[in-house]
Amino acid sequence: MANLMVNSVSHIIVVIIIFIFFFFCIKTSSASPTSTRTFNVVHYGAKPDGLTDSTKAFIAAWHEACSSINPATIYVPVGKFLLHNAVFQGKCKNNISIRIEGTLVAPPYKVTKFFENWVLFEGVNGVSIFGGILDGQGASLWACKKSHKGCPKGATTLRFKRSSNIELNGVTSVNSQLYHIVIEESYNVKVQGAKVSASGDSPNTDGIHVQLSKDITIFDSRIATGDDCISVGPGTTNLWIENIACGPGHGISIGSLGKELKEAGVEDVTVKSVRLSGTKNGLRIKTWGRPSSGYARNIHFQNVVMNKVKNPIIIDQQYCPDKHCPHKSGIKISEITYENIHGTSATKVGIMLDCSSEQPCSGIRMEDVNLTYEDKPAQASCINANIDQ
Ligand SMILES: *[C@@H]1O[C@H](CO)[C@@H](O)[C@H](O)[C@H]1NC(C)=O
Ligand SMILES: *[C@@H]1O[C@H](CO)[C@@H](O)[C@H](O)[C@H]1NC(C)=O
Repeated sequence: MANLMVNSVSHIIVVIIIFIFFFFCIKTSSASPTSTRTFNVVHYGAKPDGLTDSTKAFIAAWHEACSSINPATIYVPVGKFLLHNAVFQGKCKNNISIRIEGTLVAPPYKVTKFFENWVLFEGVNGVSIFGGILDGQGASLWACKKSHKGCPKGATTLRFKRSSNIELNGVTSVNSQLYHIVIEESYNVKVQGAKVSASGDSPNTDGIHVQLSKDITIFDSRIATGDDCISVGPGTTNLWIENIACGPGHGISIGSLGKELKEAGVEDVTVKSVRLSGTKNGLRIKTWGRPSSGYARNIHFQNVVMNKVKNPIIIDQQYCPDKHCPHKSGIKISEITYENIHGTSATKVGIMLDCSSEQPCSGIRMEDVNLTYEDKPAQASCINANIDQ
């Protein structure tokens, strides 16, 4: 009898141990670092009606995803989500993917006039965005700017600031109020398959602007807008741009540089396989006519097709919109190559190199550059530029 008791007790203990073991197993496997947790913004109160402010719901989903010990996905389903000033911040425990099937809609500029950015990622690491349409609703602000003085500046649609290991895959930005996408003080950012569009006469709607950033790639994108297709500001190093279609807009621009006396330089930029159609400029380097410590060097333009571009190849070191430029540009431009550039200019002068008398351009190399204007070779004009043969 006593023996039987001991036996059944030990059986029970074994069963309990097996149960605990089993339970523990399931628990640990579901918490393994490979499984991803998904945070649907709708579960946090976001409404796909385009009218309800869903900012708080998006931020709540972000905070949950950010503190998740598993890799996290924020999911935005089909529908229109109105966001006001959406700021995503912080060092998260894991990489975060944001999958957007719907459209994010900005409020009218009378609401956004109080902030510089509409959607801002600040100080984040390891964020990938897949898909989505960001609609800045800029048309009424452009109309204001065209007819009045003193209109608000508007908000940049999507900005990454002090961030790293960022990927944008197939993101669409339409009708931004100001810039579409800005990458600032960031490193290791990859933009792929972006679709950017705004009216060809919309003011200050640069497609992608990069500054004070390092190790940036922009691939396979289509940018039609009212200002620069891609603009590159001071302090940009190791930027690779490839397979981009630009137009309408102002083309690809390094600069404006040299607005400030003390300024970080731009170096190691490759612009490859680009098609520019009907743009105001093609490949431009632009600096203020002022003293500055900045520079632009080691920049390669390669395999570019121009279609009726007003200023296909241009270096302009006398930029001075405020007419307050008592000096020549201090920006030194060197080691610039133009290789395999073909197509049509919409003006007589296809190549205009207007460099600083203080800092003449050096190491300019042209190889297989053939631009025509009305079926004849376009002209070239060079001032203070040393062309390597
Ligand atoms: C986050 O992503 C980066 C780059 O894609 C990768 O190297 C890193 O291991 C990832 N980190 C985690 C915690 O998954
Ligand atoms: C430049 O391009 C035009 C138009 O494609 C062509 O007719 C011409 O032969 C080319 N010139 C040279 C020097 O390759």
